[in-house]
Amino acid sequence: MTDSVFGTSASATGAVEQRMRIQLEVNGQRIEREVLVRQHLVDFLREELGLTGSHLGCEHGVCGACSVIVDGELVRGCLTLAVQAQGKAVETIEGLSDSGQLAILQQAFLEHNAMQCGFCTPGMLLTARALMQELLEPSREVIREYMSGNYCRCTGYQAIVDAIETAIRRSKALGAANSLGSAKESLAPSTSGTVSASEVSL
Ligand code: FES
Ligand code: FES
Repeated sequence: MTDSVFGTSASATGAVEQRMRIQLEVNGQRIEREVLVRQHLVDFLREELGLTGSHLGCEHGVCGACSVIVDGELVRGCLTLAVQAQGKAVETIEGLSDSGQLAILQQAFLEHNAMQCGFCTPGMLLTARALMQELLEPSREVIREYMSGNYCRCTGYQAIVDAIETAIRRSKALGAANSLGSAKESLAPSTSGTVSASEVSL
């Protein structure tokens, strides 16, 4: 950061507020904006870029509704400042959904009725995706523990955990099928016989 990227502006109360110009990538698109240094990432995404899929619930890092991915890491958008995303790659529910990367999870959520109002669902899907990339065979208890930072106020957790178990099962089956396919194509047996969860669309 250099002084040249900073600026100031007066708030409605007359207080001087510091601003900063940031450059980042959001869902694969280069973005450059001047933001208040105190603005949270989720507010920036929603208010400046119109990406309203990331929701604001508790605003205290508790409910997980504001979850987004920054440089591959799941973060709370309400605890991350927009200026902290300077130079980084941000992925939101819109980008991951449009690219089909959540298709297996979304289908499983639909089949298990794992949502009602849908307020928590974007955060649930991003957290479940992170779980599937990290752990190949989590038990039901481990899934519950991993998802415990995401609150749902209307569906209940049974259906959500059922949906994630289904998505994991399908993802593994698809991985096995992909592995068989490449073995046939190369006319040689697969040496590892495994495909990581991150290699298939979740
Ligand atoms: S709004 Fe960020 S964790 Fe609840
Ligand atoms: S579906 Fe309504 S809060 Fe989870």
